[in-house]
Order: sequence, then C-alpha cells, then structure tokens
Amino acid sequence: MKKILFKIDGRKIPIFVGHNVCGKASISKYIDYKDIVIITNTKIAKLHLKKLEKSLKSFNVKTLIFPDGEKYKNISSLNKVHDFLIKSKFNRNLTVIALGGGVIGDLAGFASDTFLRGVNLIHIPTTLLAQVDSSIGGKTGVNHKYGKNLIGSFKHPVAIFIDIRYLKTLPQKEYISGLSEVVKYGAIGDRAFLRWLNTNSKLILERDPDSLVKLILMSVKAKVSVVQKDEKESNIRAHLNFGHTLGHAIESSLNYKGISHGEAVSIGMLFASAISVEKSDLKIDEFNLIENTLANFSLPVRIPSSIPGAKILQNMTYDKKNKKGKINFVLLTSIGSCCLNDHIDDRYILGLLKTFQS
Ligand SMILES: NC(=O)c1ccc[n+]([C@@H]2O[C@H](COP(=O)([O-])OP(=O)(O)OC[C@H]3O[C@@H](n4cnc5c(N)ncnc54)[C@H](O)[C@@H]3O)[C@@H](O)[C@H]2O)c1
Ligand SMILES: [Zn+2]
Repeated sequence: MKKILFKIDGRKIPIFVGHNVCGKASISKYIDYKDIVIITNTKIAKLHLKKLEKSLKSFNVKTLIFPDGEKYKNISSLNKVHDFLIKSKFNRNLTVIALGGGVIGDLAGFASDTFLRGVNLIHIPTTLLAQVDSSIGGKTGVNHKYGKNLIGSFKHPVAIFIDIRYLKTLPQKEYISGLSEVVKYGAIGDRAFLRWLNTNSKLILERDPDSLVKLILMSVKAKVSVVQKDEKESNIRAHLNFGHTLGHAIESSLNYKGISHGEAVSIGMLFASAISVEKSDLKIDEFNLIENTLANFSLPVRIPSSIPGAKILQNMTYDKKNKKGKINFVLLTSIGSCCLNDHIDDRYILGLLKTFQS
C-alpha cells in the first residue's frame, strides 16, 4: 500500500493507494467520533457496501442509498441528504463517507460541506475516474437545470482511500472512460508516463494489479501537484482542462447521452493536439504518440458525424470556463508542457472540426 500526502490549506491529506487499502489503512483512524453516514448508490451498495459496513462495526453507521445515475446529482438529492442528516439528529461530529464514483463523490462532498457549515468527509472512490480525478482536488457540487456542476463548493476530505479492488466490478466502458483522464496526465505533464501507458496498454486493459497501482499513483501525484500549486484554478489548474474544451461541447451537443465524458475528452485531446501541431509547435511524432495511446485503449478520436460543427462551435463559445466569450484551448508545446490559447480563429476551428468528423 502506498501513501501520498496532499498538502493543501495548511493540512496534509493522506491518499492511500493499493489493494484492500480500506482494510489495511484502517479508516477508523480518520474518524474522530461515533457517527458515520455512508452515501452511495444502489449499484455500488449491492457490490461493496457490506464489506465496508463490516469494517466499521464499532461505529454508529447509517447508510443513504441513491438511485444510480448522473441525473440524481441535483439539488433534490442534496435536499434528501440534508433531510436525512437533520432527521437523524446528527451534529458536527459526523463523518460522511462517499462510497462511489464521481456522482456520489460530488454530491456527498457538497452535502458534507453544507450540513451544519461543514462536517468531516472521507472519499472512497470506486470508479477509475473518481480514483484518479474527481475525489482529489476538493471540487464538489450538483448539476442545475441550466448546466452541469453549476452549484458547488471546495471541500477537501480528511482522507482518501483508493482501493483497486473496487475496479474489478467496474464495467469496461467506465474503466476505459477513466483511462482517458490518465492519458491526459501523461500528455500534459509527463512524457515518460505517456510512453509507459502506450507500451503497457495490454496489461492496463487487462487491469493487471501492479499496472493499476502504478497508473493510479502517477495520476494522483499529477493531480495533487497541480492542485497544490493552484487550488482555485487561477492558472495551472486550467491545464487539467486539456481536451475538455471540445469534450464538454460534444457532451452537451449530445445532451450527455451516448458518449461518456472520457470518450468526449479523448476526441478533445486529439483535437487540441492537432491545433497544437499548427499553433504551438507540437511535433508530429508527439501527436502520433497521443493518437496511438488513445487508440490502444479503444478511445475514440473522431467527432460523431451527427453533430453539426456550428453547434459544437457555439457550445465551445458558451463553456462556463471561457472568459469574455472567447474559446479557451489548452495546447501542448510538447508532451509534458502546456500553454493556454484563446485566440484561435473560429473559421479555423470549424475547418478542423470538419476534418475530425467520422
Ligand atoms: N469533483 C471533480 O473534480 C470532478 C472531476 C471529474 C468529474 N467529476 C464528476 O464525476 C461524475 C462522473 O463520475 P464517474 O465517471 O465516476 O461516474 P459515476 O459516478 O456515474 O459512475 C459510473 C457508473 O459506474 C458505476 N460504478 C461505480 N463504481 C462501481 C464499481 N466499483 N463497480 C461497478 N460499477 C460501479 C456507477 O454506479 C455508475 O453507473 C460527473 O458528475 C462529473 O461531473 C467531478
Ligand atoms: Zn474530465
């Protein structure tokens, strides 16, 4: 089992990574009082809740189980958590445990930050995406009818337990979607890591335990290092949006149906890499390495032909991360090194979108 310390706001948050870490690292060490609420969903509860509850036998544990799905990451579910916590008469000594993927992590994280102005939170991420991305960095929130993640806060947990055991039950589509963010860390920050992902793709796709631990550790270190330097995204945290400008626009053009976040980001990363070749001197063999790594993981790199280019362009222009209506791209100057560019001509983008449509 490995331990990474995430230093933020004068605190040191331990992140445990390995096999059966929930047993080995003893979650109870990070729970100050008796009361615990585990928040999860029906699917994860069926697979993994019993074992966790068993390891917390000495506490007063209650469980709140939501239906599965992004559509439940909303204000109504947040209200349900609050109602439950208030009716159960919990006080500020409560610890909330988020057992799940990014949906549960974001909802439970936000609820723990808002109940009685904040109680302790522990993340036990169960998807690859949550293990390498959403459980780290403090962003919490719910969706609003006008857009995704519009209501939320920054709230860091007291500890994060990343157990590769959970990945055994994860559907392959979800697993591959998480790999897209892993490729991102290589592309924006670490050429050797990207090469390793490329040459070990078969083992990684088979979920070989040693490869899993390595890729999670490398990804967690990458995210921690960026967030430690820029928690509130005033500069380099924005690099984590590599591939997301187009990725988000594709997702919203399709009303978040039929394509996963990771798949959309994969297309977006190759698109940003293509712009980078022309506008920021990314070498063609570096572009090829990115394309090849994504292809090895069966991640898509073409935009679905059903989406009109003009719609994608419009959605990119309205992305909430843009300033003054300008489309903001994270580009690569080489693998491992990024720059931001908000002055790419619309006509150029439209032309390139066409060449990316399958
Ligand atoms: N807070 C952040 O910084 C941040 C970053 C990235 C994404 N997000 C958010 O994360 C969410 C997406 O997260 P996600 O991809 O984990 O989706 P998810 O939470 O919906 O999980 C994907 C699917 O896998 C199932 N699942 C989870 N763990 C499982 C397991 N071990 N075995 C079998 N099935 C399992 C879930 O029930 C669900 O059906 C989005 O809402 C996104 O906005 C947040
Ligand atoms: Zn993402």
